Amino acid sequence: MQQFVEPDLLQRAHDHALQFLRSLPQRHVGARATREELLSIFRAPLSDKGEDGKRVLDLLASGAERGAVGSAGPRYFGFVIGGSLPVALAADWITSAWDQNSGIFVTSPIVSVLEEVASAWLLELFDLPRTASVGFVTGGQMANCTGLAAGRDAVLRRAGYNVEEQGLNGAPAVNIILSAEAHITIYASLRLLGFGARKVRLVDTDDQGRMRPDALRKTLAGVDGPTIVCAQAGNVNTGSVDPLREIATVTRERGAWLHIDGAFGLWGRASRDRRPLLDGVELADSWATDAHKWLNVPYDNGIIIVRDSAAHRASMTVSAEYLEQTAGAERDPLDWVPEFSRRGRGVTVYAALRTLGRAGVESLVDRLCARARQMGDLLRKEKGVRILNDIVLNQVLVRFGDDDEKTRRAVARSQQEGTCWMAGTTWHGVAAMRISVSNWATSEEDIARSADAILRAVSSA
Ligand SMILES: Cc1ncc(COP(=O)(O)O)c(C=O)c1O
Repeated sequence: MQQFVEPDLLQRAHDHALQFLRSLPQRHVGARATREELLSIFRAPLSDKGEDGKRVLDLLASGAERGAVGSAGPRYFGFVIGGSLPVALAADWITSAWDQNSGIFVTSPIVSVLEEVASAWLLELFDLPRTASVGFVTGGQMANCTGLAAGRDAVLRRAGYNVEEQGLNGAPAVNIILSAEAHITIYASLRLLGFGARKVRLVDTDDQGRMRPDALRKTLAGVDGPTIVCAQAGNVNTGSVDPLREIATVTRERGAWLHIDGAFGLWGRASRDRRPLLDGVELADSWATDAHKWLNVPYDNGIIIVRDSAAHRASMTVSAEYLEQTAGAERDPLDWVPEFSRRGRGVTVYAALRTLGRAGVESLVDRLCARARQMGDLLRKEKGVRILNDIVLNQVLVRFGDDDEKTRRAVARSQQEGTCWMAGTTWHGVAAMRISVSNWATSEEDIARSADAILRAVSSA
């Protein structure tokens, strides 16, 4: 009979985790193992009797040496992937030990209340309407999906149609208007919500990828009926933010719903320096963001905020005879997210915000912006290196020798060399290296080392 608590097993996991974390600043940042190599470690017939848990943990740890990406470390600049603040990681361990089903208040009062408090802090930090509702979802994808579901509810309800009851078949047509630079997860959301990814009107953007308000005005003038507009705070390539005040003004005049995808950019609201960039963001109807990006809590953790909490709730909530949902002031987390049973995602957000405080979040935002500028400055000094974007947040787009092949080779060689890791992209038809500074631990020294490594890779590319 197994012990209910197995301290040795937890100690072993703890030791492996510490070893992994301590290796991050030195290790080859990218993963090196091939599928075959990993299969040779992990593939085995499913045994009849099972195996010793400690040996299984050792096996996992051995595979992570070459098979895990060092994205929790300070010189990983791929996609927009945050690390884990030490307190957020520790709170995540506690969340796992608690193993709460966070669907309703009854299944976890503690998670419900932590979410309630963290929600209020987030609204304060982003300076959004304090009566807005907040849901903790898996990431930007589901945050976008939830915000658009709330928008779908609201614009159709205003047209006298209940989409949750009646479905989209037979509903008035909803106009979907997106920036031509909308993130791919907006399209995935539109597919899931039954709008279709192709039945959209795209609004032109400028050289930084910002939606043009004059073009939006023109598009809005050509449509009639229920309408949803999606704008962006933080372009995945350039980090640029749409001119939100103008966009919100035009959208409001037309009575349309404005959703803002602020997966990482919304965090700029927490910084006095970055605030002007997000001027007008408070005028939107729904805001999607991620805690696993800029706030640096472990995966997975996204946040949706909706001004019209009735529309938010109506689009998400479900009930059943056997569910003891609260009729009082208590929060049932499932009212605000697509999931039913789920992890207590608000716990790590609470722990991170309580530990950092307002000044700590601001410093985190400012630090990553400063490191991105440092990277840009170090790279652009070198002949033949061009920074393609205005570095307004944490994203840097770099091109080498004004040559697609050279740029792609520079990305591949940098990845292979292992000091740092970043991906390539195509920006307005040309190849670029895409650097996203998203980790709380990235120091000036990390940026200097990485810039050196990149320039060495370029000279051999
Ligand atoms: C602008 C934007 N929106 C949405 C997403 C998707 O977020 P997630 O990967 O958390 O689902 C990203 C991810 O980088 C993003 O940059």
